[in-house]
Amino acid sequence: MERQSKVTIIGAGNVGATVGYSLAMHGTCHRLVLVDRDEDRAKGKALDMSQAAAAARSHTIVKAAESYEDIQNSEVVVITAGSPRLPGMTRDDLLMTNAEITKEVILKVKEYAPKAIVIMVSNPLDTMTYVALKVGNYPRNQVLGMAGILDSARMAHFIYEKLGFGAGQIRATTMGGHGDYMVPLQRYSTVAGIPLTDLLKPDDIKEIVERTKQGGAEIVGYLKTGSAYYAPAKSTALMINAILKDSKQIYPCAVYLEGEYGYNDMVNGVPVTLGKNGAEDVIEISLNHCEREQFRKSIDSVRVLIDVLKEKDFL
Ligand code: LAC
Repeated sequence: MERQSKVTIIGAGNVGATVGYSLAMHGTCHRLVLVDRDEDRAKGKALDMSQAAAAARSHTIVKAAESYEDIQNSEVVVITAGSPRLPGMTRDDLLMTNAEITKEVILKVKEYAPKAIVIMVSNPLDTMTYVALKVGNYPRNQVLGMAGILDSARMAHFIYEKLGFGAGQIRATTMGGHGDYMVPLQRYSTVAGIPLTDLLKPDDIKEIVERTKQGGAEIVGYLKTGSAYYAPAKSTALMINAILKDSKQIYPCAVYLEGEYGYNDMVNGVPVTLGKNGAEDVIEISLNHCEREQFRKSIDSVRVLIDVLKEKDFL
């Protein structure tokens, strides 16, 4: 019998449920398990998604976990559990609350699905990826943070808004952490292969870069009681697809650095190839002085948070 691919999503809130819906609609995996502290919420969403899958003639079977035993043999576990970012709150405000939640969840994942590739989605993203990796004592390929795809997608959309053409042909590239110090890379962004710098004036590009950095906050400002979820979910689903298909596609993801770009013992967003072993290769692209400097600031901003966790003896 064909291998039955299994994905678990922990946290069936807006992002988690939308990841699940995307997987179920595309038949990305055979089995999908939803875990939530509120079991009825997981059950309701699983039923609703199962019925959507039936309507779409998708083979994906969606179930709510009754206990952590139900996550056994998952190839991928997505962790969205955590407090969402509310209006006026920075991603960093969430630090302690979400570190505790991540710790609790990752120990269960390690116990019941020790081989699963873990995708972290909870904020502050880079720091939570570090927490998961350290608390679970994982090799670095096994724990990845989603956000580079999201930040790049936001940048692509803002490029479209500026240009007024090229939708679907825009390849935007970002690296760095998922925070105010992310590093949108205009030199690595193109529209149908044409460098962005040939299409837009420096001031326009600057505006795009700033808007990208604030991309999450802009949506929080409109939604008022929560944060974005369609683009975060789609970005997560792309990662899952690449892992299950062993496609070796390159995506910007948050990973633990082991000397790349000159940093160690730190998580930040860099281009990686995704395959069945998770983050299989970290790609070092050439950065000019200014880009390197921005990346350093991004690294520093994550280090501050990790240091807070260390000071509180959390790590
Ligand atoms: C965002 C928040 C949730 O970028 O980090 O949408």
